Amino acid sequence: MEYKSHINKENLPQHIAIIMDGNGRWAKKQGLLRSVGHEKGTKAVREVVEGCAEIDVKNLTLYAFSTENWNRPKLEVKTLMRLLVSSLKKEIKTLLDNNIKLNAIGCLDNLPTKARKELQEVIDKTAHNKHMTLTLALSYGSREELVHVIKEIAEKTKNNHLDIEEITEKTVDSHLYTSDLPDVDLMIRTSGEQRISNFLLWQMAYAELYFTPVLWPDFRREDLYEAIFKYQKRERRFGKTSEQL
Ligand code: IPE
Ligand code: IPE
Ligand code: MG
Repeated sequence: MEYKSHINKENLPQHIAIIMDGNGRWAKKQGLLRSVGHEKGTKAVREVVEGCAEIDVKNLTLYAFSTENWNRPKLEVKTLMRLLVSSLKKEIKTLLDNNIKLNAIGCLDNLPTKARKELQEVIDKTAHNKHMTLTLALSYGSREELVHVIKEIAEKTKNNHLDIEEITEKTVDSHLYTSDLPDVDLMIRTSGEQRISNFLLWQMAYAELYFTPVLWPDFRREDLYEAIFKYQKRERRFGKTSEQL
């Protein structure tokens, strides 16, 4: 079935988050190096970015590198960082052509200087774009983010800028790296793994989870549209009964 034309434009997820997984297994299956899998994965990135922009999804967040991924072999980490720089250089045109703003979340200070500089440059150059926000989660871990939030709030209460009684869910939201983004409506993970791997724990509290066996380098926009189509078939109850909706 062709999915795109069956998507209801009135019920689009406001925020899609993707765990781009399976590059290594894709490469292994063809007897290639893991790095080739990562390179092929960049094509899938372009597909989902353009695919979302095309149907007016407003926020797309891609898990590109986790805090735990620093524990991979040095050479693989280096390849991933090099690929980040080359992709940013290459894809700035895609972002500008599609009126997309780039954003980044995570412990960006841990990135190599070159990657940080390139990232900042693309963020600056696309800052005024309005059609869609593309957020890259880089050196990102949800627990690290929550610790950062707790420290900031603690600091404010200590300095009497905030009363403990005033702390609400909104306070937490506003201190997250994603403070400018709505909650995640749809989380997609490729490669068949069914776990969250420290991604946006707070923001995904009520997200619909979608797992597909497709390996990330093979993921195309029709796969994205299938996920959105299936998301739209679900009943999101948010704790209520079906009859109340
Ligand atoms: C996802 O693919 C890319 C990153 C985590 C950076 P993997 O590299 O995790 O691929 P698999 O899971 O080993 O197949
Ligand atoms: C999650 O994938 C991180 C990214 C996609 C960037 P991993 O491949 O690192 O996750 P685990 O370790 O298998 O859970
Ligand atoms: Mg993996």
